[in-house]
Amino acid sequence: MRTAICERLGVEFPLFAFSHCRDVVAAVTNAGGFGVLGAIAYTPEQLDTELTWLDERVGGRPYGVDVLLPGKVDAQALDREARLADAVPERHRDFVAHLMAKYGVGGAGGPIGGPIGGPAAGSADEVGRRVTAAGAAGLIDVALKHPIGLVASALGPPPPELVARAREAGVPVAALVGTVEHARRQVEAGADIIVAQGTEAGGHTGEISTMVLVPQVVDAVGPVPVLAAGGIASGRQMAAAMALGAEGVWCGSVWLTTEEAETAPAVKRKMLAASSLDTVRSRSRTGKPARQLRSAWTDEWDSGQESPGPLGMPLQLLVAESAMARIGAAAERGEPGALELANYFVGQVVGQLDQVRPAREVVYAMVSEFADAVERLGRLSG
Ligand SMILES: Cc1cc2nc3c(=O)[nH]c(=O)nc-3n(C[C@H](O)[C@H](O)[C@H](O)COP(=O)(O)O)c2cc1C
Repeated sequence: MRTAICERLGVEFPLFAFSHCRDVVAAVTNAGGFGVLGAIAYTPEQLDTELTWLDERVGGRPYGVDVLLPGKVDAQALDREARLADAVPERHRDFVAHLMAKYGVGGAGGPIGGPIGGPAAGSADEVGRRVTAAGAAGLIDVALKHPIGLVASALGPPPPELVARAREAGVPVAALVGTVEHARRQVEAGADIIVAQGTEAGGHTGEISTMVLVPQVVDAVGPVPVLAAGGIASGRQMAAAMALGAEGVWCGSVWLTTEEAETAPAVKRKMLAASSLDTVRSRSRTGKPARQLRSAWTDEWDSGQESPGPLGMPLQLLVAESAMARIGAAAERGEPGALELANYFVGQVVGQLDQVRPAREVVYAMVSEFADAVERLGRLSG
């Protein structure tokens, strides 16, 4: 299954794994795929530590780094406030306090903009600032000091400085898109690889399905290579994506239930039990539409009678990260209200994820099922 992109990036299988977890990135890379570390949760210093850890484990195999750079953010809030959290309106603070009381979430106060847990050490305020070109520049500086094979960006055209710096370092730039128009714009802005991501994907998504989006993007931007993303977690789905004209696939959700994933145990259990109907595209975690597990959190923000409605990015990110740090801790203690609220980004393939497997096994199973699917199709046409 070698495609041109395998030659270009020096990888065995055109299977890209987006993950915030370095263990997943290392496992997929060592299994012959291409791991991409989501960097937004890290400070530049932490990212340096994570990438050094990866360098020591992947034996020179290529891997990538992803930063989130929204084209549009609440720039006013970023300019105006020394502390982003000060721009969060009282109504929104009150609503979070109301949710915590209604669902009986105990534990420490967790101020908005304060420290958050998980791999995202630092504060929600810092994470809020990192989703800007200036904020991401520090991450890119660090990433380019390591032997990375790709820089990816989502949510808007990569800033010209990013493209120039990556070019200088000989590192290709990939960009995630959800429409043909965005794909064209990304290519004009200098993207070397387009990731066409359908609405069924976990995380920030558009409204067009992968099946409809990928062939249109392939036709619009060729010969620029296109990777298909959204709804791909098996070899049959991978074969379908390649049939649509993609040179490879880019998967995120499937790694969340692997052994290596740092997904909070309570949320992992929810994912293993979920069906494909249990996700929703909601602005309640980041301020932009992002697919995630439907939970009391998304229901309350999106249709609750008292909801003030989500803020924009990055303020909603700040509100949600601080609250989720507290909800997550309470969910791990087994508090029922917190378990109702807890959620995380995941795509519709969550309905296929019903067991915990090592990431390496997921790669091998996808490659093997891909070969079977292609053989079956070959017999059809023969
Ligand atoms: C938990 C999670 C977090 C994500 N965060 C980002 C991100 O920070 N940057 C990004 O470019 N894409 C992000 N994505 C989207 C993935 O890169 C990928 O396009 C998507 O997961 C593919 O669809 P799938 O979830 O059906 O596999 C995220 C996806 C998930 C599931």
